[in-house]
Amino acid sequence: MKVRKIQLTNFRNHADSSLEFTGGINIITGANAQGKTSILEALSYVCLTKSFLQQSDVTVPRFGGEHFGVDAAVETDRNIVNRVRVVYEPATGKKYFLDSNEVKKSADVIGLFPVVVLAPGDFALTGGSPSERRKFADMVLSQVSRSYLEELTEYRRALKQRNKILLDAKLNGSIDSNMLSAWTDALVAHGTAVVSRRRRFVDEFHETFAASYRSLVESGELPALRYEPSFDANGDIESEFRKALRNLAKAERARGASLAGPHRDDIGFILNDLPIREFASQGQHKTFLVALKIAEFHYIKAMLGETPAMLLDDVMAELDYGRATRVIQKVSGLGQTFLTATDMLSFDEKMLDMHDARFHFVKEGNVVCENGSANLQTLSVRQ
Ligand SMILES: Nc1ncnc2c1ncn2[C@@H]1O[C@H](COP(=O)(O)OP(=O)(O)OP(=O)(O)O)[C@@H](O)[C@H]1O
Ligand SMILES: [Mg+2]
Repeated sequence: MKVRKIQLTNFRNHADSSLEFTGGINIITGANAQGKTSILEALSYVCLTKSFLQQSDVTVPRFGGEHFGVDAAVETDRNIVNRVRVVYEPATGKKYFLDSNEVKKSADVIGLFPVVVLAPGDFALTGGSPSERRKFADMVLSQVSRSYLEELTEYRRALKQRNKILLDAKLNGSIDSNMLSAWTDALVAHGTAVVSRRRRFVDEFHETFAASYRSLVESGELPALRYEPSFDANGDIESEFRKALRNLAKAERARGASLAGPHRDDIGFILNDLPIREFASQGQHKTFLVALKIAEFHYIKAMLGETPAMLLDDVMAELDYGRATRVIQKVSGLGQTFLTATDMLSFDEKMLDMHDARFHFVKEGNVVCENGSANLQTLSVRQ
């Protein structure tokens, strides 16, 4: 899919900005705090119904106002052009319209216009806590499988309710056993579906990922992914999950929380048989991350039969020149790419010409589009 154009109304520091995009690489440039990431955030509302920054809708309306709007034309691989409108106001909340029909459930939209996002926060994926890696798996799977998203939503609901009962028990000393048992059943049912899909995902994803990694490095490094569930999930997942909860019953009451299940999963990121979090160099971390994102692109495309767009926020700042050039060469050949950068001088003009590049210069929430790399020097000077 390709986003052909977008309009932002009272969206962050954009009062009223319109952009037309190329199907190749769109470079959104400008000094710090001018409104570059906000454009990617608006694209995220179109494709994922929400901000990839994991921020609440209420933070988005332009200071002094209470509502925002995003209006976009999105073309699928089958050349069908859809109009997408997202509007927010405090009284009615957020509304998503697809070709003027309101879509009430985000699960009905997610996956229609797939995207792969690489933003500075993603660097926590390889070095940070297990929750980052769970989020990664959930983000990919939610886009390729509607039923996964539904199971995950139900799982979270059951977890919240069950934790409430356990916390009550811890604080008040008494427990409603019937309620606990009902929510345990729900937790096990939906959790089993989530664990089994995540396990299959890591199996399926592994090869694509290893190939992506190899395409980025010249050395013979051996990358691997390993699913690490919170209980032994090799046998019958449902009975193992139940068994784990039975064994943890006392501890759960003492802690006032559920101690086994997909909310405590991890995915081991391994390089040459060692966990990357503890042993890898900075460069290896970054290469691992980029390989994950390229693999995500291929995986989503294969599963959905729709080409994802790539949203790359500030990647140039995180990578040295050689690596950044390689990454841009790799990703911009895949599909439509949106890339933010403060420093235009780090772009290789010849390379950008090859990839159907278009520049969008952002200043104080206003956008000027300029085509072709002939303007590179002008744009750099104007910053
Ligand atoms: N709701 C809002 N209303 C108005 N301005 C906002 C709002 N939320 C954030 N901003 C401001 O909008 C500006 C643009 O933010 P954005 O993240 O898009 O900048 P950027 O161009 O990506 O900068 P950087 O290069 O530093 O990443 C910032 O000054 C930010 O503080
Ligand atoms: Mg930014």
